[in-house]
Amino acid sequence: MASSHNYVLAVLVLATIQFKAIAGSHDHLQHLKSLHFSLFQHETINKTGYIIVEGIKGGAGVSQTTTPFGTLFAFQDPLTVAANRSSKLVGISEGTTVTSSLDGLRSISIAKLTLRLKHHKGSLSVVGVTDNVKSSNLPVVGGTEDFLFVQGYVTSSPVDLTGLTVTYKIQFHLYWPPYATPSS
Ligand SMILES: *[C@@H]1O[C@H](CO)[C@@H](O)[C@H](O)[C@H]1NC(C)=O
Ligand SMILES: *[C@@H]1O[C@H](CO)[C@@H](O)[C@H](O)[C@H]1NC(C)=O
Repeated sequence: MASSHNYVLAVLVLATIQFKAIAGSHDHLQHLKSLHFSLFQHETINKTGYIIVEGIKGGAGVSQTTTPFGTLFAFQDPLTVAANRSSKLVGISEGTTVTSSLDGLRSISIAKLTLRLKHHKGSLSVVGVTDNVKSSNLPVVGGTEDFLFVQGYVTSSPVDLTGLTVTYKIQFHLYWPPYATPSS
C-alpha cells in the first residue's frame, strides 16, 4: 500500500516537473530573438573572385553562369546595403566554391560573412549549394561575437549577372537560441 502511494506521488512530481519544462520552453519561444534583413554581394572577376583550379575539360565551359565541373573558385566580395556597388559597405563575404554539378551551374559553397551592422557586429559561417541562376538557401552553421550560437539560413539570389561585376542579393534569416540570448 505504502509503495503504491509513493509511486503515485512520484508520478505527480514528475508530471509537475514536465509541465514546468513545457511552460518554460513556451516562454522562451515567445522571447526568441530573430533578425531579418538583406545585403548585396558584388563579385568582380579577377579582382574579388578568381578561378584557382580549372575543372575538367570537355564538359561545361567558363561562362557568365557556368564553370567546369570541379572548378575551385575563391572570393572576397564586398557586402553593401543596396544593389548599387557605391552604396554603404557593411561587410565582406570571403570563401570558396567547388563546382559540383556536371552542367556547371551548381557549386558547394563555404563562406564567412563578416558584418558591421548598426546593432550587431561579428561573423556568420554558411555552408551549402549555390545555383548560379536560381535562388539558393544556405544554412547558417555558426557565428562569432554578436552572432555567437546563431542559427538560420541565408537566401542567395542573382540580381545582375551581366558585365565584369555580378551582384547577388543575400537575405538573412537569423534566430538566436534561448541559451544565446542574454537574460532580461
Ligand atoms: C581572368 O584571368 C584569367 C587568367 O589570367 C583569364 O584567362 C580570363 O580571361 C580573365 N577573365 C576576365 C573576364 O577578364
Ligand atoms: C549609385 O550610387 C552613386 C553614389 O551614391 C550614385 O552617384 C549613382 O547614381 C548610383 N547609381 C545608380 C544606378 O543608382
